[in-house]
Amino acid sequence: MEALRVRGGAPLVGEVRLSGAKNSVLKLMAAALLAEGATTIRNVPDILDVEIMAELLRRLGCTVDHDAAGGVVRIDVPAQPSHRADYDLVRRMRASICVLGPLVARMGAADVAVPGGDNIGSRGLDMHVDGLRRMGAEVTSEHGCLLAQAPDGLVGARVWLDFPSVGATETVLMGAVLARGETVIDNAAREPEIVDICTMLVSMGARIEGIGTSTIVVHGVDTLSPTDHETVPDRIVAGTWAVAAAITGGDVTVRGAHGEHLSIALEKLVVAGATVETLPDGFRVAMSEQPRAVDIVTLPYPGFPTDLQPQFIALNAVAAGAALVTENLFEARFVFVQELARLGADVRTDGHHALVRGRERLSGAPVEATDIRAGAGLVLAGLVADGCTTVYGVGHIDRGYAGFVPALRSLGADVERIDVP
Ligand code: UD1
Repeated sequence: MEALRVRGGAPLVGEVRLSGAKNSVLKLMAAALLAEGATTIRNVPDILDVEIMAELLRRLGCTVDHDAAGGVVRIDVPAQPSHRADYDLVRRMRASICVLGPLVARMGAADVAVPGGDNIGSRGLDMHVDGLRRMGAEVTSEHGCLLAQAPDGLVGARVWLDFPSVGATETVLMGAVLARGETVIDNAAREPEIVDICTMLVSMGARIEGIGTSTIVVHGVDTLSPTDHETVPDRIVAGTWAVAAAITGGDVTVRGAHGEHLSIALEKLVVAGATVETLPDGFRVAMSEQPRAVDIVTLPYPGFPTDLQPQFIALNAVAAGAALVTENLFEARFVFVQELARLGADVRTDGHHALVRGRERLSGAPVEATDIRAGAGLVLAGLVADGCTTVYGVGHIDRGYAGFVPALRSLGADVERIDVP
């Protein structure tokens, strides 16, 4: 087993370069299933989840070539891919569910195990299922699998999502591009990763209007063609570096970032006392004082991203004053607070609220990452804690942050990966 050993105290100073977004690239890889032939995806982050998705696609019959160093994935999709995604891969990564839409759309059937993945609370699939049913699929659940069937193809429909779910928007979208007629997705998610997948689908020949708005209109086409697409930069990794600069009193330039995808988070850092400078290809965050506490309310994009909530709780834990953090997407995300408390943080939770009272110092301790972003939050807290913090569960961090330790070290952090018995 491996862990990260973090010795706190050093301000992070220097430059990092982003790669593509995990939450986009996995869906882009699934979208490749919609067209026979070879699709190329670039700016691919070197993370474990990409490998898991590559393996899933191989088991569906695709040939997948992953040049991890070059950040390129080439997926050659056969005329008749299999439509069955087994539990042993799906359980390792919840995002596997994103093959559901493309498989029903292209093959008229999908048999996908119900995913596991993050330990961040129960996440329903009801909106994915409802959406496909509205488009004429028959969906049943048996032996831990979702079986979706539309032997004569999906049919365009009006789909109103109860909540702008990222995953459900993607499932319906990828079903709709090959459906007969027009599909309207109301209350659709507007995340930059949704825009990215729409852009790729359009380059494959899909007809989509309202991209980036809450109403997406898709005119189904008969076939799509393979494409060559560059993944949008990872705004959550960018935001993590921004908080790293602010929490350590450092000065970090993030290159290859789209600052406009992070407006609220960067604005919160300004309120906390940081200087944020927009650059042509990214941004720079510097902090020269103890941060001030900032309230956070997580919401679907363009609201504050839930995936940056643990990092901001870490920031508030060492800020002057008290902050109220409201989590509206994944309540169980607060389980990480118990780990942060081991470092001496003063956080009280009640339902979907957390009250964080800032402390002047935290003190290093062994802690366990419970999901990707909790892991990032704990590492950030470790960077400002006295002494040594050992973060276990490093596999979670590896799922979302490519080359995290070398990048931290290049900024001056005292961090190493260690083997633990
Ligand atoms: C994606 C991201 C995740 C991010 C989240 C919200 C990926 C791989 N993951 O997750 O990092 O935190 O968006 O920005 O892209 N829900 C239902 N029924 C459904 C679908 C969702 O009740 O059918 C609920 C979930 O339980 C959750 C909320 O909707 O409370 C948001 O989920 P959703 O937006 O779908 O997130 P994911 O796509 O799973």
